[in-house]
Amino acid sequence: MNPDQSTDLIEAARAAAGLAYAPYSKFQVGAALRTRDGRIFSGCNVENASYGLTICAERNAVWSAVARGCRSFSAIAIFTFAEEPTPPCGACRQVLYEFSPDLEILIVNPAGLASRHTLSQLLPLAFGPQHFQP
Ligand code: THU
Repeated sequence: MNPDQSTDLIEAARAAAGLAYAPYSKFQVGAALRTRDGRIFSGCNVENASYGLTICAERNAVWSAVARGCRSFSAIAIFTFAEEPTPPCGACRQVLYEFSPDLEILIVNPAGLASRHTLSQLLPLAFGPQHFQP
């Protein structure tokens, strides 16, 4: 994927960040997932007065896609308004790995695309479905 093709994904993540419900941290996050068949699903963080119930933007994007039958993703853009670009938390890395071990991760802030990574760079030696014997 070249930078031009990422514009729609980045814009979807930016729009999602604007919808974040983050009255406690004031830290708005937006994520947009591209499915392998070219669809985009986005999510924002949603906080709760019972802090531990907060859910991250990335996981909300995954839940949204899976609930519509999409389980295979090629890329995710993560947008925050922070000057320091924001990578996904460890829990979200694990959830992303479940569906797409070779996912491309685009870290974006208001200045634009800050960096690109593969999920295997951010979560080396990951535990996943391949290790699980029901
Ligand atoms: N947050 C995300 O949405 N994604 C991450 O990967 C890191 C953290 C949210 C959770 C919480 O609402 C706020 O950022 C501060 O931690």
